[in-house]
Amino acid sequence: MKKVIIAPSILSADFANLEKEIKAIDDGGCDWVHVDVMDGTFVPPITIGDNIVKAIRPHTKKVMDVHLMVEHPETQVEAFAKAGADMITVHQEACVHLERTLQLIRSLGCKAGVALCPSTPVSTLKNVLHCTDLILLMSVNPGYGGQSYIHAVTDKIKEARAMLDAADSDAFLHVDGGVSPKTIEEVSGAGADCFVAGSAVYNTPDYAAAIAELRSLASQV
Ligand code: DX5
Ligand code: ZN
Repeated sequence: MKKVIIAPSILSADFANLEKEIKAIDDGGCDWVHVDVMDGTFVPPITIGDNIVKAIRPHTKKVMDVHLMVEHPETQVEAFAKAGADMITVHQEACVHLERTLQLIRSLGCKAGVALCPSTPVSTLKNVLHCTDLILLMSVNPGYGGQSYIHAVTDKIKEARAMLDAADSDAFLHVDGGVSPKTIEEVSGAGADCFVAGSAVYNTPDYAAAIAELRSLASQV
């Protein structure tokens, strides 16, 4: 059985009860806690800052997987590392000096991830694989939870898997957006091993059951 990482996104959690919501996915068997940071510029909404990451950090020992949907992420990574992030993912589209930013994240003791919007080709990452611990392929246009999976991204997942294998890279291949029991087999079958699930976990009555179902479906392909 394939080993998979399930990372619920707290974007779909009840923000008035974040401590409880995080403990519930932790107890429910999640692997990572996915934190969607939006700055109102790279994407329209403003969501979570480093102060919130610092506040929730004591409430889980799970990997804190921070996805920065912000302009100039190089100015933010140190604050999120100090707040307790384990993985920090920046958008290729927001980084002129991507290699430097990935090296900066690693120098802060975190794993370094790069995210691509649906329209950005996988080939843009070919020359930074030496400093990439995670590739995150957006399967919706970033900014909002609860959108539908864009099936055209499935070919990108296959392409990224082939690129990582050819480079002998053990970087995680994360897919984010519209992942649900209806789509996760397609996503996993294409070669992803990490799965963000916001509404597919938090918009259900039983988070543990939702996580277990996603894990089971993704593991069997
Ligand atoms: C979208 C975020 C996602 C989002 C996923 O910009 O990066 O992490 O919360 O939500 P669902 O799983 O509901 O598509
Ligand atoms: Zn995300």
